[in-house]
Amino acid sequence: MRRLANKIVIVTGAGSAGPGWGNGKAAAVLFAREGAAVLAVDVNPMAAQETCALIVAEGGRCVWHAADVSKAADVAGAVERCVAEFGRVDVLHHNVGIVRTGGPVELSEEDWDRTQAVNMKSFFLTCKHVLPHMEAQGAGAIVAVSSVGGIRWTGIPYIAYAASKAAVLQMTQSVALQYARKGIRCNAVVPGLIDTPLVRASLSSAYDGAEMDEIVRRRHEQAPMGRMGDAWDVAHAALFLASDDARYITGTSIVVDGGLSAAAVG
Ligand SMILES: NC(=O)c1ccc[n+]([C@@H]2O[C@H](COP(=O)([O-])OP(=O)(O)OC[C@H]3O[C@@H](n4cnc5c(N)ncnc54)[C@H](O)[C@@H]3O)[C@@H](O)[C@H]2O)c1
Repeated sequence: MRRLANKIVIVTGAGSAGPGWGNGKAAAVLFAREGAAVLAVDVNPMAAQETCALIVAEGGRCVWHAADVSKAADVAGAVERCVAEFGRVDVLHHNVGIVRTGGPVELSEEDWDRTQAVNMKSFFLTCKHVLPHMEAQGAGAIVAVSSVGGIRWTGIPYIAYAASKAAVLQMTQSVALQYARKGIRCNAVVPGLIDTPLVRASLSSAYDGAEMDEIVRRRHEQAPMGRMGDAWDVAHAALFLASDDARYITGTSIVVDGGLSAAAVG
């Protein structure tokens, strides 16, 4: 029995920032392999199309939809599209996230605002639009992607990112408890150092301008298991939380960090 058989799933940030596997892309493909029909939402239509093509090539069901999930009208449109295509929304996998590096002095107000809009407000907006459908169905599962950066200092000054990811965890609890008696669960995945295209696209400035090979080496070294995780590690935790295997789990999170947040030194 496939774990998401006949489920309808929205994945936000379903593409990846560059070649390779981002967390949302891997989750979308894994969910489809487990029987879900997927609405792959991304601000970059090419990235969403690429994920969809991978799913369809494997015999899965996917429709792509371009949307900036920091914008209310785009989010409303994406959820409407999902219901129009598939008739319901069983799972929201809210994966979108961007990184702007810098502490309070270095970070611009614009980068603070954009980070909160894309990482945090988007979660509010996607919940706002999927919850009425889930409530009417009497069932639903929401999985948010936070970050160890939201619960620990990771060595990188990215104050807006850290604050936004902490907020995602609290929002996860708020939604979970408000909807606990309505058949709707809400949980988060908390990834640590994961080797995705976003790292290569957004983090070079946080490593003193080091070459990418050196950044990757340092991140592998920083992880207690001696290596970064990959997008599939995050996707498997998300799959569990999205599936009925986690039917008595709500308002909590799974840390996927190879021991990073348990370590006293990084
Ligand atoms: N890579 C890591 O080490 C790491 C660690 C902890 C948490 N995370 C989190 O995992 C999630 C995915 O990260 P990733 O590394 O796979 O990133 P990624 O950049 O490879 O993929 C994210 C996708 O989101 C899309 N996107 C960006 N802004 C959007 C918007 N406003 N609306 C819709 N789509 C948008 C991008 O186009 C991209 O396709 C993020 O929330 C990130 O914070 C990553």
